[in-house]
Amino acid sequence: MQPMNRRSLLKIGGSAALSTLLPVHKTQADQTMEKFSSSSSRAYALKAQPTKIQIGPESAPPTALWAFNSQLPGPALRIKKGNALHVIFENHLPEPSSIHWHGVRVPNAMDGVPGLTQKAVSPGEQFHYKFRCPDAGTFWYHPHYNSSEQLGRGLIGALVVEDDQPVEVDQDLTWILSDLRINREGQITNNFGNLRDAAHAGRIGNVVLINGSIKSEFTFPTEQRIRLRLIAASNARVFGLRFLGGKPWLIALDGHPTPVTTIQEDLVLAPGQRADLIIDIPATDALRVEDHFYARSAYELARLKAEQPVVIAREVPATLRRNPINPPVLTSSTRTVNMLIEGGAHSPVASANAVWRLSGQSMTVHADQQGARHQAPSFRIRPGETIRINLHNQTSWLHPMHFHGAIFQVINSQTDSVMGALRDTLLLGPGEKTSIALCADELGIWMIHCHILEHQSTGLMGVFEVS
Ligand code: C2O
Ligand code: CU
Repeated sequence: MQPMNRRSLLKIGGSAALSTLLPVHKTQADQTMEKFSSSSSRAYALKAQPTKIQIGPESAPPTALWAFNSQLPGPALRIKKGNALHVIFENHLPEPSSIHWHGVRVPNAMDGVPGLTQKAVSPGEQFHYKFRCPDAGTFWYHPHYNSSEQLGRGLIGALVVEDDQPVEVDQDLTWILSDLRINREGQITNNFGNLRDAAHAGRIGNVVLINGSIKSEFTFPTEQRIRLRLIAASNARVFGLRFLGGKPWLIALDGHPTPVTTIQEDLVLAPGQRADLIIDIPATDALRVEDHFYARSAYELARLKAEQPVVIAREVPATLRRNPINPPVLTSSTRTVNMLIEGGAHSPVASANAVWRLSGQSMTVHADQQGARHQAPSFRIRPGETIRINLHNQTSWLHPMHFHGAIFQVINSQTDSVMGALRDTLLLGPGEKTSIALCADELGIWMIHCHILEHQSTGLMGVFEVS
């Protein structure tokens, strides 16, 4: 089947006003604050606020969004590995909020989960996040309060932690892949929290954006090698990227180094996940990136092309340096815990306010009104201990399961040993059973949840404890 371009995707979404697509510019201004900046730290101010951004063509009205510093995505935060990040977060939304640093190994009190690790930041209030970034890699940030709506209105941003000896490339680029659900007037469709999305595949948008823009042609002056950091920041849309006219190398997943391999199959990125690629931009024919995840609505996401050929020998890129992590270790005494995912449309266990269950419990909020109540932990581990988790997705839906404050590796069932990259988010297909080996260092009670945010808010959450 011929992939559609993003223009036809928009038409399917029923958005006539946006059907003539012109590239729109993206802004990028970081607000550094002298006070907290030094040779070993970086400071930023992030304001969550309602704003209007031109997403469609100039002839269409701007789209009312919620965004960090009025930018979609929010400012790209960059910091050196081992340095301290300070973020003064100010909430100018009409409701409470917070920031979670997805994939960064932070102390529990900095994890940004209202009711669990901090008090929600009320409208008009501030919160000062400060933590060291121990690992180099591609991470991102987003609120952890009413997440389906807050991310679905635009509150997302990239966090890049630079290695002191980075791989050699001509350009280091980040693409936040996201989508919005836009109506005919070019505005966000207001049906957040509807049961139909929650009980099925989640709130899949109808406009796919790269760095908040519908721009899809990327031209480089000469042939060159780029590092492309991909972040899937959609509420529910899974990407299955196919590269035509070039062979990118995969160098990292979820921020952590992988063996360097060329990408042979569609690169699947579920909400929350990241992949770092090395791409040699060709001058002859464009490198085309298509998204084939939903086979019946494949579309062309982007084209990358150089204007001038240059002759350079391009070698296989070097493997990234390891991060200072103690990876999970399986031994004969490793404890095992089973985690069952149940629910969804037509499931007998689903009800209107608890559509999903994790380990037999439906957790729909982090805490009650008084602030502190949360679910009993699904499991407890000691710092540094590895636990084996047998995940069983007994539903007919996809679930990208994300663990805060921990890293894991998939267990190869044939050899009973860990394999592949260190990850923080695992995509489980319908009916799928996967075992992972997980470990954590920081003390505290940490979230486990599906990163399809409409599943999260209707029961697919839980916690585990490191003590
Ligand atoms: Cu991207 Cu609970 O997080
Ligand atoms: Cu899910």
